[in-house]
Amino acid sequence: MLLPYTTFFFLVLTTCRSSDTIAVHQNISDGQTIVSENAKFELGFFSPGNSKNRYLGIWFKNTPSQTVAWVANRETPLIDTSGAIKLDNQGNLSLVNGSGIVIWSSNSSASGTNTNLIAQLLDSGNLVIKTGYKSNNESLIWQSFDYPGDTYLTGMKLGKNFITGRETFLTSWKSEDDPSPGEYTLRFLMVKGKYQQFYIRRSSAIETRIGPYNGISFSGRPLITPDAINPVYVSYIVVNQNEMYFTALSSNDTTTVSSRTVVTPGGKLEIFQQKFANQDWIKSITLPVDYCDNYRVCGPYGSCNAATTPYCGCLKGFERNTSDDTSVCRQSIALDCGPGEGFEKLSSMKLPDTENAVFSGNMSLQDCEVACKNNCSCTAYANPNITPGGIGCLLWFGGLTDVRVYSQNGQDLYVRLAASELKFQRKKRAVMVVTLSISAVLTLLGLVLALYIRRKWKKRSDAESSSQMGSADVTLFSLSNISRATNDFAVDNKLGEGGFGPVYKGVLEGQEIAVKRLSKSSQQGLDEFKNEVICIAKLQHRNLVKLLGYCIQGNEKMLIYEYMPNKSLDSLLFDESRKLFLDWPQRFQIIHGIARGLLYLHQDSRLKVVHRDLKAGNILLDHQMCPKISDFGLARMFKEDENEANTKRVVGTLGYISPEYAVNGIYSVKSDIFSFGVLVLEIVSGKKNREFVHEDNEDNLLGHAWRLYKEGRCLDLIDECLCPSYSACEVLRSVHVGLLCVQQRVEDRPNTPTMVAMLGGEGSLPSPKKPAFFFQETEVNSTSIHPLPSSVNGVTLSQVDGR
Ligand SMILES: *[C@@H]1O[C@H](CO)[C@@H](O)[C@H](O)[C@H]1NC(C)=O
Ligand SMILES: *[C@@H]1O[C@H](CO)[C@@H](O)[C@H](O)[C@H]1NC(C)=O
Ligand SMILES: *[C@@H]1O[C@H](CO)[C@@H](O)[C@H](O)[C@H]1NC(C)=O
Ligand SMILES: *[C@@H]1O[C@H](CO)[C@@H](O)[C@H](O)[C@H]1NC(C)=O
Ligand SMILES: *[C@@H]1O[C@H](CO)[C@@H](O)[C@H](O)[C@H]1NC(C)=O
Ligand SMILES: *[C@@H]1O[C@H](CO)[C@@H](O)[C@H](O)[C@H]1NC(C)=O
Ligand SMILES: *[C@@H]1O[C@H](CO)[C@@H](O)[C@H](O)[C@H]1NC(C)=O
Ligand SMILES: *[C@@H]1O[C@H](CO)[C@@H](O)[C@H](O)[C@H]1NC(C)=O
Ligand SMILES: *[C@@H]1O[C@H](CO)[C@@H](O)[C@H](O)[C@H]1NC(C)=O
Repeated sequence: MLLPYTTFFFLVLTTCRSSDTIAVHQNISDGQTIVSENAKFELGFFSPGNSKNRYLGIWFKNTPSQTVAWVANRETPLIDTSGAIKLDNQGNLSLVNGSGIVIWSSNSSASGTNTNLIAQLLDSGNLVIKTGYKSNNESLIWQSFDYPGDTYLTGMKLGKNFITGRETFLTSWKSEDDPSPGEYTLRFLMVKGKYQQFYIRRSSAIETRIGPYNGISFSGRPLITPDAINPVYVSYIVVNQNEMYFTALSSNDTTTVSSRTVVTPGGKLEIFQQKFANQDWIKSITLPVDYCDNYRVCGPYGSCNAATTPYCGCLKGFERNTSDDTSVCRQSIALDCGPGEGFEKLSSMKLPDTENAVFSGNMSLQDCEVACKNNCSCTAYANPNITPGGIGCLLWFGGLTDVRVYSQNGQDLYVRLAASELKFQRKKRAVMVVTLSISAVLTLLGLVLALYIRRKWKKRSDAESSSQMGSADVTLFSLSNISRATNDFAVDNKLGEGGFGPVYKGVLEGQEIAVKRLSKSSQQGLDEFKNEVICIAKLQHRNLVKLLGYCIQGNEKMLIYEYMPNKSLDSLLFDESRKLFLDWPQRFQIIHGIARGLLYLHQDSRLKVVHRDLKAGNILLDHQMCPKISDFGLARMFKEDENEANTKRVVGTLGYISPEYAVNGIYSVKSDIFSFGVLVLEIVSGKKNREFVHEDNEDNLLGHAWRLYKEGRCLDLIDECLCPSYSACEVLRSVHVGLLCVQQRVEDRPNTPTMVAMLGGEGSLPSPKKPAFFFQETEVNSTSIHPLPSSVNGVTLSQVDGR
């Protein structure tokens, strides 16, 4: 081989350090490693987590903390560092302990001549044993990719060889400290002729179904994934006489260095990406995502929808016995296979379990319908293939199970319905069209009338114009129900700790809920509490978290809210890796949503609520990343005289409090406007006002934004991770409005409707003055605010002096 002179020295060093192969009779003992050619993976001995046991494994080379991808002796650990591996001249790789006892072996052997036999660690993370190394006649004897552990790496095949009967699948570790096979597996539905989908099983019970395969990937993906923009994998399914498997190759996405898919000891499937070498992993997908991902959760012919309450419904044409909650969905009108029967198209669905389905690869949708119609036991059909022009026909016989509705990326499912049911559905549609056109006319008339009336009644007080308030649906729950729903307030279910007490996740009647357990020390009377709850429950808006009910029993007071799967804004915005999920359009939508929620609280609702603690931690995100303001009204429920650190005088959070409020205790809607302005600047910059200090001039975030504004460099404020997805015009407007909201003088801040209009791009904006940024850490700590034990980052502060 000819090598340029300059690389010679480097090569020598590399060879000294390690090689990527193990030769026959060479032994590798604990402490030595081998490294793949381009240093992507390393093989050697390690101890997982807190364990002292030693295992032979393969791990990623360029990660901040050791990430193990494969373990040889999963069930037979070494108890000390005296082990070694060696390759015999038959191609059998074995691991021996200090007494020379073989505790693991590849149990492989080369047939015939075995010249140039070696074991080699490839850059894919695959450990291979082969003959004919570096000749043009290499032949594979054994590979670790055929024996995966809990981790899928690109290039592995998961599936079944029909000739040998051997299945390849992932098995979780028992725990972080113990790589021996745990309870959970990720396996294909590996039956010849069945259509491809994955199952996550706990022992033999299916927990989650992933799929079916749609020609590109698997349906059943959560909504916010960077992989939607930059797919990590391009996946293929191969089915032939001899074998059937899934494999994925890394996509040509150059922004990802490494990726891996893991079944965790707790039974979750997680996909990770590494954007740059030596950087932390970013978790891009976790399955199951939500309640509806629980296998068959709504029973046969049921349909789960995470966006509705309750989650479980029946497919069109099916219904439950309304007087029996536990009943299953049944056909509303029995099928008789008459000529009038037909199919109803359901859109945006997760297709039913394909265990009951038959697949034909080359049938068009029309042929598929005919085939289903001609067989009386066929209950539904679909084309699983979403690739452009892709065909294929799935016919279901018998129960349609594990169906769910997606808010996007779902597929079309055609369900067989009785003739009368179809007519009814059609009629309903026709009626709807007529109703719509009639209602259009009526609306117009109504509008004219309303305008007229409004003019007449304009002067009536707010309190009386209550007609637009929806009736409040607020339920009193029993403590035992809530206790059961949250698994007795299990630590595992704790979502966090707010200013008023801990918040738990629970499942009640099939719906996911968040339970806010208010601190017991509140002195508020029960009736008073109840009245307040009912009052708050009437505040209903798309951008406010919905209160479902409450619970009062003994000392316990709890509020039950809808559960927000994407947690709070601060958990995304200020997290180096999770913030990548928030692109600019999403952030802009969030700013708008909060503004509309605030407008409702301040003006459009009957109560005129000043939030007093608007901050990123109090903005929750639903499954569509729609922002919802939470904790509104809580401030009203806790009166000034309550003096437990966590609950008394709830008055905002450092970094968000307006100057007049902090100093003089005066608050108004304009104090919320101030907090909103801070929030906008935080959303644009991805930085916490409270923690931001400019390295050159000690500016806080507001000061920094102001300086950039004056220098005409507002775009420099933007979070680096947003390039290049943002709209400069939207960013500039947001920063401008943000600055107007954080003005020192109350009069200089826009009122809420004006602020919303400004964001909407109406009218020209006044120039902001220097914002209020006396609010620097040092000043705050020394004089006006005494941090309490509870005032850790972002937790609601409970005391402000100077009233
Ligand atoms: C490893 O190889 C060395 C010689 O290279 C030999 O002395 C030693 O006994 C071997 N150890 C094992 C465990 O086979
Ligand atoms: C090697 O394994 C054998 C059998 O499990 C065991 O009896 C022996 O103590 C082990 N030796 C060492 C040094 O671990
Ligand atoms: C590989 O080595 C192990 C341990 O020495 C032995 O039990 C096994 O039979 C060997 N397999 C083959 C195919 O040689
Ligand atoms: C090794 O492989 C042979 C046949 O390939 C098999 O009979 C034997 O049980 C295997 N031994 C172990 C320890 O897996
Ligand atoms: C390649 O290997 C096969 C069997 O593994 C052998 O039949 C063939 O002669 C080899 N060819 C060369 C060029 O070595
Ligand atoms: C990557 O790009 C090359 C050339 O454009 C193409 O041939 C290859 O199929 C691509 N790989 C994948 C996985 O898309
Ligand atoms: C519905 O359930 C109730 C209570 O279980 C039962 O009495 C009734 O017969 C059921 N009705 C039908 C139509 O199945
Ligand atoms: C499906 O494809 C095969 C081979 O391409 C062909 O023989 C067969 O007629 C096709 N079936 C249908 C229903 O088109
Ligand atoms: C309907 O399809 C099922 C499943 O493929 C098959 O067993 C049955 O024979 C078919 N019935 C008719 C009448 O074609």
